[in-house]
Amino acid sequence: MIIWCILPLDFIPEIIENIQCTEIYLSLDKSPLNGAMLMSNPLAWAKYKWKHMVSELNDEFYRYVGELLENEQIMQLDNFTHHHSFTRLGHSLDVAYVSFVIARFLKWDARSTARAGLLHDMFFYDWRDKSYEREGHHVSSHPLVAIENAKRITILSKLEENIILRHMWLVTLIPPRYKEGYIVTFVDKACALHEGIVALFSRRTKPRAITSVNW
Ligand SMILES: [Fe+2]
Ligand SMILES: [Fe+2]
Repeated sequence: MIIWCILPLDFIPEIIENIQCTEIYLSLDKSPLNGAMLMSNPLAWAKYKWKHMVSELNDEFYRYVGELLENEQIMQLDNFTHHHSFTRLGHSLDVAYVSFVIARFLKWDARSTARAGLLHDMFFYDWRDKSYEREGHHVSSHPLVAIENAKRITILSKLEENIILRHMWLVTLIPPRYKEGYIVTFVDKACALHEGIVALFSRRTKPRAITSVNW
């Protein structure tokens, strides 16, 4: 299986221990820098600090969503095309990661934001397929389906549930109840826009990705 997403996913090695991994590409070079070189080169120092910060963020992100990523149901989201050539798993990971980083820097609830971001589109049908039977319009019904599916694999807090329920705000009328919900709803739209732009300018059948994981 191949997962494509736009963000560095250094936490992935930990989840593939139980899965047969054939190949892995990471966007970050983790080789330690020589101390003397760091002292004499501010650019190298800045680069080192940046890598260190990203690495810490990735570790924290994995602590929050690692358990979910080991779940087979979540992995099945990779079988569905979500926007253009992005799979639903790739899209959900991007929304979860970007939302988590924003919440983390604002010192809001980064754990719930990451978890809800990953689960916000947890439905298992092609939303373009009009013959699929569903209650109401897809735009308003899929958050409810996602909550139902998410509750089968984890316990959702009130905050996480509301983030998922209201992530379509602006297309639907009722806004999120909590501030973290606004992060996910805007990041979701930004990711959808990014996926559309990539599809527009790329002839690839799979989107250009900084990171890809094969197993
Ligand atoms: Fe959605
Ligand atoms: Fe989404």
